[in-house]
Amino acid sequence: VNLTRINIVLALLLVAVVLPTLVVRVDYSQPNIEILPHMKYSSAYDAFSTNPNFANGRTLQAPVSGTIARGDLPLDFAATPEDAIRAGEQLQSPFAAVDGMALSAAIEQGAEVYRIFCDTCHGAGGAGDGPVPKRGFPPPPSLLTGKSVTMKAGQLFHILTYGQGSMPTFTAQLSRENRWEVIEYIRSLQQDAARKAAIAAKSAADAAERPGPEDETKPDSQKPEGEQR
Ligand code: HEC
Repeated sequence: VNLTRINIVLALLLVAVVLPTLVVRVDYSQPNIEILPHMKYSSAYDAFSTNPNFANGRTLQAPVSGTIARGDLPLDFAATPEDAIRAGEQLQSPFAAVDGMALSAAIEQGAEVYRIFCDTCHGAGGAGDGPVPKRGFPPPPSLLTGKSVTMKAGQLFHILTYGQGSMPTFTAQLSRENRWEVIEYIRSLQQDAARKAAIAAKSAADAAERPGPEDETKPDSQKPEGEQR
């Protein structure tokens, strides 16, 4: 075997293969050879491509005005206080007539919605003491003692749908069902609070009526240890 001859062949091969890659400049801005280009380039218009067939030059057209999304019945209310009252008269919670099991499932779901979307402002218990108002956002009224106790469910639904003052709308985050669920949860918080307040009021009244062991006028805390109830 003649080593020099092999070396010459190898050197020639090197020149033949490597040199062109150094000399020939590839233009990366141009497509390379494309096999089956129709698989890469759709002959249909892409959703966001321009389109000469429409007057506005777009492929994706807005729905005809008045179009209703499937399964979505439009609400006939405006974002006004008057329409909030009207919503209270006309809208009924879908959970108003369900059995106890279905209602507690809705309340449980509502508690989850509340934890995610509401307690940052309204506070975990609904007292209006969440972390956001502590940082300067206008504090919301208590959901346990404020107006929302006497407001009809439909009115609360109107607030969640259209907002009220600095309370934002939640239509983008919450389906209608989620909104009703969180309303049922707020109602359950309100009922708990009312029950606790009634028990506290009753025991205070009982304490006032019952004659004390020695001095009725002395509050419990001033009596000696052991006599406190
Ligand atoms: C960014 C803070 C913020 C978040 C989040 C928020 N709220 Fe509010 N909410 C407010 C404020 C502030 C008000 C008082 C609005 C006003 O009347 O000026 C309010 C008012 C309300 C009221 C009416 C209370 C009344 O007495 O008038 C209800 C009911 C209510 N919110 C429920 C909810 C529910 C349910 C959620 C979660 C889905 C929620 N809020 C999320 C800030 C918030």
